[in-house]
Amino acid sequence: VKSAAQGQGPGTVALIGSGVIGRGWAVDFLLKGWAVRLYDLDDDASAAAVAEVRAAVVRLAGGDSISPDVVAVAALADAIDGADLVIESVPERIDVKHATLAAIEAAAPADLPIASSTSSLLPSQLAEGMAHPGRFVVAHPFNPSYLIPVVEIVPGDRTVAAVADHVQAVMSGLGKRVVRLDREIEGFVGNRLQAAIVNEAMNLVRLGIASPADIDACVTDCLALRWAFFGPFETMDLNAPQGFGEYAAKFGDSYTQLGRRLGVGEAWPQDKFAMVEESVRQSAPADPEARYARRDAALDALGRVKRELAERGVL
Ligand SMILES: NC(=O)c1ccc[n+]([C@@H]2O[C@H](COP(=O)([O-])OP(=O)(O)OC[C@H]3O[C@@H](n4cnc5c(N)ncnc54)[C@H](O)[C@@H]3O)[C@@H](O)[C@H]2O)c1
Repeated sequence: VKSAAQGQGPGTVALIGSGVIGRGWAVDFLLKGWAVRLYDLDDDASAAAVAEVRAAVVRLAGGDSISPDVVAVAALADAIDGADLVIESVPERIDVKHATLAAIEAAAPADLPIASSTSSLLPSQLAEGMAHPGRFVVAHPFNPSYLIPVVEIVPGDRTVAAVADHVQAVMSGLGKRVVRLDREIEGFVGNRLQAAIVNEAMNLVRLGIASPADIDACVTDCLALRWAFFGPFETMDLNAPQGFGEYAAKFGDSYTQLGRRLGVGEAWPQDKFAMVEESVRQSAPADPEARYARRDAALDALGRVKRELAERGVL
């Protein structure tokens, strides 16, 4: 791996696709001193991305200038030339991904690591047709990546372990909490868990059991309050005096039985979408920018609390 030999310190990253996720990555890398090159099929998108990313970095870093900087380049090869890592964040379509990976490989030396931000495509499938599939791995972020620490590292069946190790080390260097999967699986880990909750939430709406606002509250003012700090396993461990084994003996069977009756495989009820949307609108500001700012402020504050508790040795 090219840059493994050069250490894991800041270098130059080529970000292919400068939409929501490409911009998030740009902020992450800039905050840790990497030079960032953005390429997008749409020049207007990459130009807008540069302005947005600079503003976000200045806001998050509390400074007024960025060094090294982010640049938008007009040709994919110019983004890749001399880069230490490439991350593609183009639309989630297998044909677009395959074409993009082919274009990246045509411009890249054979040992340059290439990562994909894909949230639902399997790395083995993405790497089909690659000349050097060993240097390819999925690095799946969550949005907004600069406030959500987890990145899932997912190797495909031909990913070389040293490449996954290297991309993992880069992510750790960015301050990420890396979740490394031993092998690929549909939805990876985060989105499998998310699908279980979200699909059952939609099922409860479908059945008319409770309002969307009350279902939301069961997450925000209940499950997620604990899970923001302890996760499901430790939460269960805390809910029985003798710990997880006792909890499992007492409740494991009922979870299994209930799990078989949940509606997580049901189609989402289209006739309820307007009701869900109205519920969301009632609690959120109307202006989209204000909504993103509110989300970022809340996630930033929670992140600070978690870091402070960790520093004090509470977590
Ligand atoms: N949005 C999320 O919450 C999220 C979270 C994690 C991962 N992802 C993954 O990140 C990837 C990008 O998603 P997004 O939400 O940023 O999409 P997006 O639509 O916001 O951005 C995609 C960008 O790619 C550009 N583009 C299209 N074709 C291209 C090409 N051939 N070469 C270069 N650029 C091209 C578009 O102009 C656009 O700017 C997807 O694989 C998605 O699954 C998204």
